[in-house]
Amino acid sequence: MTSSPVLIHAAAAHVRLLLEGDCSGHDWWHVERVWRMAAALAREEGADLLVVELAALLHDVDDWKLGGDAEGRPRRAAAWLEEQGVPSAVSEHVLEIIRTLSFKGAGVETPMRTLEGRVVQDADRLDAIGAIGIARAFAFGGAKGRLIHDPETAPERHQDFEAYRRKSGPSIHHFYEKLLLVKDRINTAAARRLAEGRHRFLETFLERFFREWDGVE
Ligand code: ADP
Ligand code: NI
Repeated sequence: MTSSPVLIHAAAAHVRLLLEGDCSGHDWWHVERVWRMAAALAREEGADLLVVELAALLHDVDDWKLGGDAEGRPRRAAAWLEEQGVPSAVSEHVLEIIRTLSFKGAGVETPMRTLEGRVVQDADRLDAIGAIGIARAFAFGGAKGRLIHDPETAPERHQDFEAYRRKSGPSIHHFYEKLLLVKDRINTAAARRLAEGRHRFLETFLERFFREWDGVE
């Protein structure tokens, strides 16, 4: 097998090409931030760096939101890992992380079996909250033709992945359906510290958003 730094470099180049044109908040720079954050969390938590970096880099190339397989089989990631001759113990671990990582609705638990999985999930979730999370939520909504807000409809609590996947409400609902729930689902102590600040920023943003909506600010 190629050495780890060469392999990681090749994975980054491959993913950059695949996601470069995305305008739904899943572009290369989302992956680059998750990769950097995951590596920092891995060092702090003592997780295996090769597995964490590969999973972070490949985590969105098969996403259902980007037209990936509805059953969530990470086909492109699997094909690339095989092409590179990555040992099966590593590639199976990476693929398991990619398969189980995603948020699937307020009522659906998404536990991660390994420390490496917990670290990559935290890095991905941190990028869904705070100022960047807000920017991504509206970018996603815009890319899918959703309204910013619709005061005549209410957010939902999705009990299964199917219902979460089908949702088409305004982007402000996504705050109640996912973003505000992220803080309490963070796995590692290192990520929790960052999540708290980002969560507070979501709350400040929403308070101001609704005051402006009502014309009182
Ligand atoms: P996950 O796989 O956990 O959903 P991603 O890295 O794929 O994480 O990011 C999903 C991001 O897409 C959300 O955090 C959010 O910013 C954005 N998004 C906005 N609206 C929706 C929506 N209606 N359904 C799913 N994702 C949305
Ligand atoms: Ni992601």
